[in-house]
Amino acid sequence: MIDDSIISVRDLKKYFGEVKAVNGVSFDVHQGEILGLLGPNGAGKTTTIKLLLGLLEPLEGEISIFGLNPEREEVLMKKKIGYVSEEALIFKSLTPKDLFNFIASIRRLDAKEATERVTEYLESLGALEYYEQMIATLSHGNKQKMQIVAALLHEPELLILDEPLAGLDAKSVRVVKELLDMHIEKGGAVLFSTHIMEVAEDLCDRIAIINKGKLVGLGTIDDLRNQAEKSGASLEDVFLRLTEQDSSVEEIVKKLRKSYKKKIEESA
Ligand SMILES: Nc1ncnc2c1ncn2[C@@H]1O[C@H](COP(=O)(O)OP(=O)(O)OP(=O)(O)O)[C@@H](O)[C@H]1O
Ligand SMILES: [Mg+2]
Repeated sequence: MIDDSIISVRDLKKYFGEVKAVNGVSFDVHQGEILGLLGPNGAGKTTTIKLLLGLLEPLEGEISIFGLNPEREEVLMKKKIGYVSEEALIFKSLTPKDLFNFIASIRRLDAKEATERVTEYLESLGALEYYEQMIATLSHGNKQKMQIVAALLHEPELLILDEPLAGLDAKSVRVVKELLDMHIEKGGAVLFSTHIMEVAEDLCDRIAIINKGKLVGLGTIDDLRNQAEKSGASLEDVFLRLTEQDSSVEEIVKKLRKSYKKKIEESA
């Protein structure tokens, strides 16, 4: 473990057949830091996250989390991690209440304290009314809220969140941002992936941009602007440049406009 790094990743590689999903990625997440993982669809964000959690086996590279190896010391490591996966909750025939009680019991949490915490989180997220409703019947956003509460329940030091804000309404996004800020104030660390540029800009101390399995930018927004040679640009512009999508997106938009105009002219 280097200095105050909670996560330390070096030259990480994971291939699925011909697909080089993660192809030599290195970064650290320090204590008290929120690191955002950005990248186009299929860039390798979820694969990176699953490797960190020991859910996938790396082809090559080093991962250290709290100085532990995710494959060899998975149980010890997971005690300190709260994880929100990209997929919806799988315990569909349970209610959130059953799920949280189950988590509290396997984590050996004080039942009363855990229930108080759950109630406070659900109230803040406007989801207390779904506490005893079957998870299968909840809306996408409300399922997502339950995943977030489940990840926070054991007060882990490190949160690893794969698109935690996907599907959440504006008020809940605001509440989750606040929860993450408080987590950092308590000395924790966060790694999360997102496609929402404003959220990344607002929340992250540093951002890692991944494209086609490779890290193409890492640092503060100003660092990224320098790396993209785009001083004063928005994160979206910097992102599009570093992922080499800036010219292609303009071309796509132009082509779409042209074909739209042609259709309108033809139908007139
Ligand atoms: N189990 C798998 N088997 C085969 N290919 C996979 C598997 N999981 C991921 N891939 C491939 O690896 C690449 C990276 O996928 P990954 O899910 O990590 O992307 P991502 O950055 O999370 O994308 P998104 O923004 O769409 O969530 C993609 O090409 C994907 O199709
Ligand atoms: Mg993903």
